[in-house]
Amino acid sequence: MSNIDVLLGLQWGDEGKGKIVDVLTREYDIIARFQGGPNAGHTLEFEGIKHVLHTIPSGIFHAKATNLVGNGVVIDPVIFLKEIDALKKIDPVAQDRLMISRKAHLILPTHRLLDAASEQAKGKSKIGSTLKGIGPTYMDKTGRNGIRVGDIEQPYFLEKYKNLVEKHLQLLDNYAFDISPLKVMEAEWMDAIEKFRGLSLTDSEYFLINQMNKGKRILAEGAQGSLLDIDFGSYPYVTSSTTTAAGACTGLGVAPNKINRVIGIFKAYCTRVGSGPFPTELFDQDGEQLRVDGNEFGSTTGRSRRCGWLDLPALKYAVDVNGVTELMMMKADVMSSFDTIKVCTGYKYHGNDIDHLPYATDPDFLEPQYQSLKGWSCDLTKLNDWKKAPPELMDYVRFIEDYVGVSISLVSVGPDREQTLKISTIVEA
Ligand code: GDP
Ligand code: IMO
Ligand code: MG
Repeated sequence: MSNIDVLLGLQWGDEGKGKIVDVLTREYDIIARFQGGPNAGHTLEFEGIKHVLHTIPSGIFHAKATNLVGNGVVIDPVIFLKEIDALKKIDPVAQDRLMISRKAHLILPTHRLLDAASEQAKGKSKIGSTLKGIGPTYMDKTGRNGIRVGDIEQPYFLEKYKNLVEKHLQLLDNYAFDISPLKVMEAEWMDAIEKFRGLSLTDSEYFLINQMNKGKRILAEGAQGSLLDIDFGSYPYVTSSTTTAAGACTGLGVAPNKINRVIGIFKAYCTRVGSGPFPTELFDQDGEQLRVDGNEFGSTTGRSRRCGWLDLPALKYAVDVNGVTELMMMKADVMSSFDTIKVCTGYKYHGNDIDHLPYATDPDFLEPQYQSLKGWSCDLTKLNDWKKAPPELMDYVRFIEDYVGVSISLVSVGPDREQTLKISTIVEA
């Protein structure tokens, strides 16, 4: 049996991936991030500590695990070094467990300016990007202009940097975008690059192949969520990487036939931050209740997250596109104040009943159809045994499993590592 498992989000991000990677890390030798960059914010809570990671994998707090930033990730060295500094306060030797792929691409200060310029130019139809430079950096990667981590060790690095910045300045000029912050940003960036050279840079695909051959267990950690995938998400309101399981292959150099479990993380309801279609979005008191009870404010940007009921056709789509082998449901505790919980089981589309996400998701023609289930109306946060879970929660879980055809192996009832209920024997929680 092969020994790479993939863990990813099935909705629009912020499902609770960070928490679960942390919970599962004791089963693995290596945790490897395969895409995205500092647009991600993965929150971990344990022993009274709350920590948000952006680029560093969520296994970093476990003394025995190696944490790899894979080639599919885009790295802002300034943010990365700040993350390391914050980590050091909790664990001074955490950095020793961190490796970075030489083939990962670097986010330049001008990428961040281009991100902002592009958003400004889009006006009302802006993506709602995190403004971390993600889109422009992946554009340079696929456009074959990008600068990779390995380039900083090469004699041509500065020349390559200057040439790319020159191109970016022309584009920024076309946008008539204010570049006055660039000098300060650039000085900070160059300083970070100097320090970055001292980190453990590696040819990560070889490293992973060797480790696999030695029988080491690897967990590939996704960022964002399947509905933000560049191909299968709600395009163009997506991120610029492959957030689905295929991204683990290209983002780490792992062959598809080496992947074993595909663990899909979803919230018991839905949230989205930024623009774009969200069929089950709630604009009423119920939506506000979810936002407040779920503390639904972005981990990276602090923006308020849009909230809505669970969308089962969208969840099933994500399960199928990823080949999910087991599900984990997060934030069940947040729904405790609802006597009745609604679940979307299909849509009316141009007046017809459908049970799949259509190509065009214009809210004027796509109306979610709901089924109402009885809520559990009790506090779950102190529950420590799934067998003692309220029957309404068990029914909710069964309803979802029946719809999507995959079992739920874990239910999360609070942000802390310990607030985690194992259902089946698949998970060693
Ligand atoms: P990620 O990007 O998928 O890692 O998720 P985020 O960290 O951005 O957002 C998830 C938020 O929910 C964080 O604030 C977590 O601490 C919190 N969280 C995770 N699981 C649970 C849960 O089961 N219940 C509650 N109430 N909060 C949770
Ligand atoms: P984690 O890993 C939620 C959203 C942004 C925006 C769109 C494009 O914490 O789940 P980008 O900066 O990538 O160009 O933004 O994607 N987005 C996320 N939403 N969680 C994330 O990551 C996200 N990363 C990007 O809000 O709508
Ligand atoms: Mg997040």
